[in-house]
Amino acid sequence: MQNLGIAITGSGSAVPETFLNNQGMTELVDTSDEWITTRTGIRQRYLASCHESLTQIASAAAKQAMAMAGITAQEIDLILLATSTPDDLFGSACQIQGELGATRAVAFDLTAACSGFVFGMVTAAQYIRTGVFQNVLLIGADILSRWVDWQDRRTCVLFGDGAGAVVLQANQSDRLLGFELKSDGTQNSNLNLTYVPQCQQLTADLAVSTGNFQFISMNGKEVYKFAVQKVPEIIDKALFRAQLTVEDIDWLLLHQANQRILDAVAQRLKIPEQKVISNLASYGNTSAASIPLALDEAVREGKIQNNHIIAASGFGAGLTWGSVIFQWGK
Ligand code: ACO
Repeated sequence: MQNLGIAITGSGSAVPETFLNNQGMTELVDTSDEWITTRTGIRQRYLASCHESLTQIASAAAKQAMAMAGITAQEIDLILLATSTPDDLFGSACQIQGELGATRAVAFDLTAACSGFVFGMVTAAQYIRTGVFQNVLLIGADILSRWVDWQDRRTCVLFGDGAGAVVLQANQSDRLLGFELKSDGTQNSNLNLTYVPQCQQLTADLAVSTGNFQFISMNGKEVYKFAVQKVPEIIDKALFRAQLTVEDIDWLLLHQANQRILDAVAQRLKIPEQKVISNLASYGNTSAASIPLALDEAVREGKIQNNHIIAASGFGAGLTWGSVIFQWGK
C-alpha cells in the first residue's frame, strides 16, 4: 500500500553572519532599546550583508534539514521556497536546487509573506497525499532588510533576515493533523511592498510601466488588531479539523512578529506561557523564515520531541493567515 500520510522528519536553519542590536538601531533612527524591547520583545536581529544571498542562507538551512532527515539531495522530489524576497524575481527555488544538486527535484517559489511557511506546508502535503511526491524540501527564507526603509523607525526595528527548512516525507501515519488557510485582499493596504509604475512612452499609443518596488509599508496598529483577533480563531478551526482541543497542544509556535502578539494569542487560547515558543528577542521578525527557524531551534534544544503536537500559525501581508497542527517526527 502506498504511504499517503505526511511526516516532518528534519529541520534546519541559518542566519546571516552579522547582527545588529537595539543599541545599534539608535545610531540609525530616533529610537531606544527600551522602546523596542517593551513594544516588541526584540533585542537584536541578523542582517544580510550585501555579499550574502537568499540562496546561500536558504541552502544552508536546507542542508541541515536533509541531514537530520537522513536524506540525500538526489532523493528530493520537490523544493518549495516560501519567500517574498527572492534573489531573482522569476524565483530562487531553482537556484537552491542547483546549489544543493537536487537534480531530480522540481522547484518553485511560493509567495505568502509571513504566512508562507504554513501555506507551503499545506501545499507540500497535497503532493504527498495524492501520491505524486514522496520527499519534499520546504524552505521559508527572507531577506527583508533589502526592502526596509532604514529611515522609518516604525518598521526598520522590527525585521531580521534568516532561513528555516523542513523535510516532509510520505509516511504510513499522517502527522499533519489539521489545517486552515485564509486570505483577505481588501486589507492589503495595511501591509505591503508595492510596485509603483512609472510610465514610459514606447509608441504614440502605448506607455508601458518601468517602475520600482517601494519600501515595506505597514499600519502597525491594524496589523496588530488583525493578528490578535484572527490567529486564535484560525488555530481553533485547525484544531477542530484535527479533532483536538487546546489541551492537546504541546507547543504553540506562532510567526515571530511581536512578543505582545504571542502573549495575547496565548492568553486568548488559554495556553500557558511555558508552551509558547519564542525566539524573536534574538532574530526579530524574519517573515517566512520565522516559524521554521524557531521550530529548528526548539528541536535542537530538545524542547520539541518525537510525537509532540505543535499548533503553528503564520500571519502577515496579503493579508494572509493560516494554521497547521502537526506531530513532530516519524
Ligand atoms: N522607536 C521609538 N518610537 C517609535 C518607534 C520606534 N522604533 N516606532 C514608532 N514610534 C513612536 C511612534 O512614532 C508613535 O509616536 P507618536 O505617538 O508621537 O506619534 C508612538 O511610538 C506609538 O506608535 P505606534 O505605531 O502607535 O506604536 P504601537 O504601540 O502600535 O507599536 C508596533 C508599533 C510594534 C509596530 C505594533 O503596532 C505591532 O507590533 N504591530 C504588528 C506588526 C506585525 O505583527 N507585523 C507582522 C506582519 S509582518 C509581515 O507580514 C511582513
